[in-house]
Amino acid sequence: LRQMATNIVWHKSSVGKLHRQELLQQKGCVIGVTGLSGSGKSTLACALCQALYSREKLTYILDGDNVRHGLNRDLTFKAEDRAENIRRIGEVAKLFANAGIICIASVISPYRKDRDACRALLPEGDFIEVFMDVPLHICEARDPKGLYKLARAGKIKDGHSLEFCIYMKVGISSQFRSSLCNIFFVGFTGVDDPYEPPLNFEIVLPEKGNNIASPYEMAETVISYLEEKGYLR
Ligand code: PPS
Repeated sequence: LRQMATNIVWHKSSVGKLHRQELLQQKGCVIGVTGLSGSGKSTLACALCQALYSREKLTYILDGDNVRHGLNRDLTFKAEDRAENIRRIGEVAKLFANAGIICIASVISPYRKDRDACRALLPEGDFIEVFMDVPLHICEARDPKGLYKLARAGKIKDGHSLEFCIYMKVGISSQFRSSLCNIFFVGFTGVDDPYEPPLNFEIVLPEKGNNIASPYEMAETVISYLEEKGYLR
């Protein structure tokens, strides 16, 4: 991460978040949807966006896959790039929330510390973490993009990473090898790259005992939470 410039001064505007929220009749917040690939993050985000649109509420979806086509096109799936991906999405989501918008960030965001850093960017309560608690074997059976199949076949890699790791297996200590692999190896989340489930989430989906909840039902669960906490007027 490059260092922040010095001699920069914050400018305040006479129209603030409260004015914008008054206009929109809602409170800006960030709904951080986290979970494995294929767990239904984007499906939930779209259902939620649709349901809130029907209630005349303004939302915006920041989807990991989509943001990687533009703002984050320079980032790979190396751990440090995933962290930067989440940091940038967190900062953009914060701006949306400040604009009074309900921002739905659907991103794997596999590492707890990166999600917690996003939470810390926002006022207390305004980061609502939604955990798509779908086990790996179900995500893998769905495999909507065929990526798990590629990952199991060892075909998910960025640049030279996998060959490099195989090469490094010869003649060096495992500790040294694993630190080098952490720098160069790009794994697929859940298969050969970790996913750290959240510990302090606000909402878990599907709810316990409701494993066949439809996207519409899951969106309604989130909307009930938003209503209860005063984000929708
Ligand atoms: S992350 O880990 O939060 O930075 O990932 P994210 O920006 O959400 O992007 C996840 C989507 O990228 C595709 N993809 C991969 N995911 C995980 N690991 C690897 N190596 C990988 N390579 C490509 C995949 O389609 C993810 O989309 P979803 O919607 O989660 O299935």
